[in-house]
Amino acid sequence: MNRTAVVLAAGEGRRFLSQTPKPLHKVAHRPMLWHVLDAVRASGALDAVVVVGHQADVVGASAQSWSSETGLPVRCVVQSEQKGTGHAVAAALPFVPSGASVLVAYGDTPLFTPATLRALWEKGQDRPCFLGFATERPQGYGRLVSDGDVLRRIVEERDADAQERLIGDVAAGPMAAPVDQLRAALERVGPSPVSGEIYLTSIPEHVASTWLLCPMEESLGVNDRVQLAHAEDLWQARLRLAAMRGGTTLVGASTVFFAWDTVLGADVEIEPGVVCGPGVVVESGARVRAHSHLEGAWVGPRVEVGPFARLRPGTRLEEGSRVGNFVETKNTRLGPGAKAGHLAYLGDADVGEGANIGAGTITCNFDGKAKHRTVVGPNAFIGSNSALVAPVSVGQGALVAAGSVITDDVPDGARAFGRARQTNKPPRA
Ligand code: UD1
Ligand code: CA
Repeated sequence: MNRTAVVLAAGEGRRFLSQTPKPLHKVAHRPMLWHVLDAVRASGALDAVVVVGHQADVVGASAQSWSSETGLPVRCVVQSEQKGTGHAVAAALPFVPSGASVLVAYGDTPLFTPATLRALWEKGQDRPCFLGFATERPQGYGRLVSDGDVLRRIVEERDADAQERLIGDVAAGPMAAPVDQLRAALERVGPSPVSGEIYLTSIPEHVASTWLLCPMEESLGVNDRVQLAHAEDLWQARLRLAAMRGGTTLVGASTVFFAWDTVLGADVEIEPGVVCGPGVVVESGARVRAHSHLEGAWVGPRVEVGPFARLRPGTRLEEGSRVGNFVETKNTRLGPGAKAGHLAYLGDADVGEGANIGAGTITCNFDGKAKHRTVVGPNAFIGSNSALVAPVSVGQGALVAAGSVITDDVPDGARAFGRARQTNKPPRA
């Protein structure tokens, strides 16, 4: 059976007080909408319809770039007025193939696992099935009024009476149904007398429906920045668990932060306060010491980084190399065994195997208009406090004397002195 996901992302997300549309706010450096699309894709969706409205262009463009990254076809449908979740789904239905099995998910619930959505898809194969969870704090969620396996009604917070508000089983957001039943049901749903919105959650009043409970940690709906922070905490907890289960030692695990795509080899050790932005790979046996910040960096096997190192995008540290405290790298390769132990800036540089970069070395890679490259040959030695004014190269085995300003290429094996000679004068009379 064709499985189509419908993802709702048209709402304004007023409680965010943000210029950025709510579904594009990030968790673990990936937009919430992308997490939702990832999960529906991994649960078996063959295509997706994303309902956009508020800042439709921006949200639609983001959904399309997810599509080109993952290869899953996405169609965006504009819901020009946000008249409720049922109204939004109705806007999507003309683009769902007839006979398809539909899974509806909300763009502000980024924590559902593919396994949970797969189970929902199974249970919603012959009648609508709503995902729910049990909580002691049901505030803000629709309450499930059930009778055994039959779901009688879902009462929205705004429409619930005092008794109904006590119910602890609540709607998590997602639901699955055969498209024809969904269409027939939505034709019968009228606006809520309280809010005037057409609720997706009114369906059980019109078509026999069922429900399925899932873990509460997956169900968090993100309506404001407090819930966004909570979602981030939950994602980080997952990433840390996966890292440790994959053979990485985390010292002070709760102080280490990863991005959704961080890749860690076996026997990696990560110390407290390390933060990884997107695009980080740390290979086996590497050690990232306390308070280092990494993004877009490849850390090779048995490399040592930090403490207090900053690896920026385009950094490539080959096997056994070392980047120590207060060293910043950007768009830079360190060859095998090369070292920059302390206090250096290496931007747009290629440092050969076994080379040593002294403390205080700066690559002057920017002339105010353009960036230029610095090449340091294998086994070269750059003395402390040198400025390498790019474009420039230092040859294999060459030596740069401490305190030099190097503006001309240094041949292989040469010793370059780019500084004024010290003169010692007699005391003043
Ligand atoms: C919704 C559910 C509630 C559930 C909760 C779970 C309804 C009526 N209520 O409430 O039962 O417990 O999610 O998190 O479904 N959207 C549109 N177009 C619209 C309205 C909303 O695309 O016209 C989108 C929003 O962008 C959002 C999602 O649908 O991504 C959910 O809307 P939201 O207003 O956040 O619903 P809740 O009040 O959280
Ligand atoms: Ca919500």
